[in-house]
Amino acid sequence: HRPALQMEESSSLRRSACRAKGGTPGFKVAILGAAGGVGQPLAMLMKMNPLVSVLHLYDVVNAPGVTADVSHMDTGAVVRGFLGQVQLESALTGMDLVIIPAGGPRKPGMTRDDLFKINAGIIRTLCEGISKCCPHAIVNLISNPVNSTVPIAAEVFKKAGTYDPKRLLGVTTLDVARANTFVAEVLGVDPREVNVPVVGGHSQVTIFPLLSQVKPPCSFTAEEISYLTDRIQNGGKKVVEAKAGAGSATLSMAYAAAKFADACLRGLRGDAGIVECSFVASQVTELPFFATKVRLGRFGVEEIYPLGPLNEFERFGLAEAKKELATSIEKGISFIR
Ligand code: NAI
Repeated sequence: HRPALQMEESSSLRRSACRAKGGTPGFKVAILGAAGGVGQPLAMLMKMNPLVSVLHLYDVVNAPGVTADVSHMDTGAVVRGFLGQVQLESALTGMDLVIIPAGGPRKPGMTRDDLFKINAGIIRTLCEGISKCCPHAIVNLISNPVNSTVPIAAEVFKKAGTYDPKRLLGVTTLDVARANTFVAEVLGVDPREVNVPVVGGHSQVTIFPLLSQVKPPCSFTAEEISYLTDRIQNGGKKVVEAKAGAGSATLSMAYAAAKFADACLRGLRGDAGIVECSFVASQVTELPFFATKVRLGRFGVEEIYPLGPLNEFERFGLAEAKKELATSIEKGISFIR
């Protein structure tokens, strides 16, 4: 009699081997912080993604429980769980895409920047692991403050000599999802038909929707612009307040992260025309990092689009955004240096 765990392990190994032989496209994806509020629904959504052949779920608590649960879904991906730092390297080895929602969320009254103290060190440790075990993986960074954690990750990778700016992406997709939803509401259309570029960064005034560039083309009154901009910038705060101490956005975030990860995987597969907003190393402005539309491909970020024509409201808003962004970026960089 083989112990149950060993049997499960060997049957999942058999399945990965079959998949590789069959030539089915499949990517290896790790979620770091997989037992959290974002991590759990994200694990479920990634298990449903047909482009994923292997799904590694890593956390410092409860990873085995989440893994056992998700592994019973009858979709293709083989799921393996990893608990605690001693298993970080096994979790990361061979991964094509690493998604990071590890670390604490906001509580009422906290800004995303207040999370710096808790999350900066966590991101450093996880990125050191990535440098060592899967230096060529695409990294999707969700943990806040994204405006600082992306610069932290870049510095860790630079120190290790593995930095490739094309492969490090801060996830701002939830800002775009919110913008699409709220704009669709004002226009009275289906949100799936709306595309709002959201640029800058991922906190307060640095979240900047370009309402003059909404697709399909439309126009808004000054009142609508002010209402929508405020609602998009404070969408996260609304959720934190409504959850009243129980955390920040998790379900909509998992949805957004899964959508962004899927775009990265389709890019890796070689699909053409994959465009998403993301906070990346950029020369679009004088700042070293900035969120704009980017085109995703086999090597990660293959093209960064310029901001396009801006109206006066947008020029002013972006000037404000850049001031705050500069401070957050510097804070991240000096944490490692
Ligand atoms: P949570 O507290 O529910 O989950 C965080 C998970 O990270 C926990 O399971 C915890 O055990 C794990 N963790 C802590 N230290 C770790 C380490 N060293 N290694 C691996 N895992 C570790 O928090 P939640 O709600 O899931 O949020 C996660 C992060 O995502 C927060 O920083 C939050 O601010 C951010 N977030 C970002 C958004 C965005 O748009 N980019 C939107 C929503 C949340």
